[in-house]
Amino acid sequence: MTLLDSVFIRSQFPAFKEPSLKGWAFFENAGGSYTCRQVIDLLNTYYTRTKVQPYYNYPASRQAGAAMDNAYTRLAAWLNVDESEVQFGPSTTQNLYVLAHAFREMWDKGDEIIVSAQDHESNAGFWRRLENTGITVREWGVDPETGMLDPADLDDLLSPRTRLLAFPHCSNVVGHVNPVSDIVKKAKAVTDVCVVVDGVAYAPHGLPDIGSLGADIYLFSLYKTWGPHLGLMTIKKPIMDALPNQGHFFNAFLDRKKMMPAGPDHAQIAAVAGVAEYLDDVYDHHFSEPADPAEKGRQLKQLFQNHETALLKILMDWLKQRTDIRIIGPDDPALRAPTVSIVPKNRSIDAVFAVLTDKKLMTGQGHFYGVRPLLGMNIPIETGALRLSFLHYTTSDEIRQLIDGLAAALG
Ligand SMILES: Cc1ncc(COP(=O)(O)O)c(C=O)c1O
Repeated sequence: MTLLDSVFIRSQFPAFKEPSLKGWAFFENAGGSYTCRQVIDLLNTYYTRTKVQPYYNYPASRQAGAAMDNAYTRLAAWLNVDESEVQFGPSTTQNLYVLAHAFREMWDKGDEIIVSAQDHESNAGFWRRLENTGITVREWGVDPETGMLDPADLDDLLSPRTRLLAFPHCSNVVGHVNPVSDIVKKAKAVTDVCVVVDGVAYAPHGLPDIGSLGADIYLFSLYKTWGPHLGLMTIKKPIMDALPNQGHFFNAFLDRKKMMPAGPDHAQIAAVAGVAEYLDDVYDHHFSEPADPAEKGRQLKQLFQNHETALLKILMDWLKQRTDIRIIGPDDPALRAPTVSIVPKNRSIDAVFAVLTDKKLMTGQGHFYGVRPLLGMNIPIETGALRLSFLHYTTSDEIRQLIDGLAAALG
């Protein structure tokens, strides 16, 4: 089995060489990851050499447009979708806001949608708000103990009038990885429903093979997936064709503009190609067989997840033997992403967080906009949870630093 070369991986992230961050272990990756050097280099190149209006016929402008086109092409290949299905928007929240408005124009009063109670508000609020306009909103609730979604519950929620089903690939507070393909199959067996999957908390652990998952719309945020501050969404072509234009009227026929009333930053789009370059570099460092990007993606996901799961096991084994904390989500590392939320029973989260910060641990506290899943588990959102999230660039030394910090903070 090929093991991840952490020294190589960390050499690709300038943050690990940054003197002001020395000694600090980063455990709030679910909020936003460090950025790989390939992305930073492309951003720098774009802003330095081609910061002109793209797609005119002079050299700097041609290069700017080509750099943007390259990002669509490269990411589509890694995600195993057609290039025409890739959309770059300012953020996942913005992308979902636009989608909700577009879909509403296609539906009739009394049409139904199913939204999960496990979602970040981004894939929840805009859909739920459609209730005010006559759409029937059905909630797919979470287990109050584990925070998990049970696909069997969909049996009572799906109907011939269900137009859309929205749920997360992985919740940013619960951490459980939902079986997307199975859920898609189950829903589509009942009716011709559009399945919208929020992959924001999943994609940073290895780019998803969206083509094989079967979701009609899949979204994730590149600033959490080692890249620039953009939201990527894929929309299957027939759905894209059916959706009403949300941009300027004269751009209605342009797939890249139809769902993007707020045009995203050109330089950042160009820089997204750096995510693909990073993955290529990681692949070439670890494997010698040539492969297409989708196959490389599957191998790298396995490589990243083997590393992350081994570290997660160390953390979970330690957390599980503590009786003074509540672990949110499954405690089996095989079932979850390394985004672990805990609620201390005897100490305030503020106090624990302060000790962790003293120990140079960058963690997260609060509700993380995962308000509905927390409420579904009867966890007060005023205090929320402490979130410990890491990625493939995290090392066992950092996990040790975290465990030592938690031991000191919890007493
Ligand atoms: C699971 C999940 N979905 C959606 C979002 C929203 O993403 P964005 O900040 O790109 O709008 C976040 C952000 O934290 C998230 O964690």
